Amino acid sequence: MPPMLRHALNGLFVSSLVAALLVVIGPGTAVSSQDTSVVAALSVLLAATYAVGFAGPARPADSRRREEPTESVDTTGGNPGRALRWLGALTTVWACLMAFSAEFGWLGFPLFALYVLLLPPRLAVVAVAVGTAIVVAAKGAEAGTLGIPQLAGPLLGALVSTLPVLGYQSLYRESQARKALIAELIVTREALAESQREAGRLAERQRLAREIHDTVAQGLSSVIMLLRATYAALPPDASLAQERTTAATEVATANLAECRRFLYELSPPPLVETPLPEALRRLVDRSAEDGLSTAFHLHGEPYPLGAECDVALLRVTQEALANVRGHAHAERCVVSLCYLDDRVTLDVFDDGKGFDPELPPQDSRGGFGLFGMRQRIEELDGALTVESAIGEGTAVAASLPIPNGVTS
Ligand SMILES: Nc1ncnc2c1ncn2[C@@H]1O[C@H](COP(=O)(O)OP(=O)(O)OP(=O)(O)O)[C@@H](O)[C@H]1O
Ligand SMILES: [Mg+2]
Repeated sequence: MPPMLRHALNGLFVSSLVAALLVVIGPGTAVSSQDTSVVAALSVLLAATYAVGFAGPARPADSRRREEPTESVDTTGGNPGRALRWLGALTTVWACLMAFSAEFGWLGFPLFALYVLLLPPRLAVVAVAVGTAIVVAAKGAEAGTLGIPQLAGPLLGALVSTLPVLGYQSLYRESQARKALIAELIVTREALAESQREAGRLAERQRLAREIHDTVAQGLSSVIMLLRATYAALPPDASLAQERTTAATEVATANLAECRRFLYELSPPPLVETPLPEALRRLVDRSAEDGLSTAFHLHGEPYPLGAECDVALLRVTQEALANVRGHAHAERCVVSLCYLDDRVTLDVFDDGKGFDPELPPQDSRGGFGLFGMRQRIEELDGALTVESAIGEGTAVAASLPIPNGVTS
């Protein structure tokens, strides 16, 4: 329930009750002390019931309203039948007070508004009708007759207390729907901006890759060719020149290899025109060698993940396969790519010799592969696990959440 409406109802309830009490048992009234005590007790009971309900009772009982933002009519939270029980209790105590005096009819204003707010439409109509009948009966009993004056007031009161609430409620729902729409628009705009940023990053990387390829890499290739030609042209006895030319060729070749590796990082060729599953399938097929059979399994319907995730999964597969070929002595290696509702998983399993993932790499270089894989995946909020034991094979499992703005 909108907070303003809630406060207004509380105020209306308290003021109606106080006003009725003043008129019925206040100073100068001719009510017996016994009746006064009963009216006071019933009033306290009514106020307590009201307070308990507002502190924690019911949800609207009709499903149509429940689908809407809960705060629109939910005074309390909890089970839907509770509103009905709470309003039933309030109405019963109120009807008892009405038996003493029709002045308590003022309480019909907040009560009828609550019927409309918390009950399903049909039940609300019945409740308002019953409430109006109680007021009419009390007025009739007080006047000793049932005429237009006894009917018109309560009927008008019922309309006055329910129609504005209905109007307010529909305005509130509309504003809630608009709020939700604006929130959705903001999310979509952010996703769009992110994908534009990503496209920009990718384009810049590819431009850099082209530049490096066309300048540094081409230059190094030329240097190597010239050095080889120089070496070939050297007289056989120019051993110092030969030695230096060979050293220069080696340095240039190593730098060219490094440069190519960097180019590959910037713009991984397998993903330029091929979707990830196809790129992985080709990679896995190419990794088969004598004594090692490989298989690729795709599960789920592929959806776009964005370049960063694609590249990360490709790199992880490359490194895991390199490890299988380099260390595992396996007969079989299976790569599985699985598109789930909320994430993508990649598993690389081999039946090779396995190792203890807790131990540091035996290679004196330290081994960067597993560390790099984990870093790549964790940068994208994913997780990488390596399960292995000596003689038990190895399973590398990467899991990536679907990036924002990507819909499955
Ligand atoms: N599939 C595997 N089967 C058996 N041993 C493995 C497997 N994968 C990794 N290892 C072991 O874990 C160590 C660390 O692997 P990691 O990829 O981090 O480094 P590396 O392969 O030795 O070197 P780098 O990848 O940096 O060239 C390896 O040296 C190897 O002993
Ligand atoms: Mg490795």
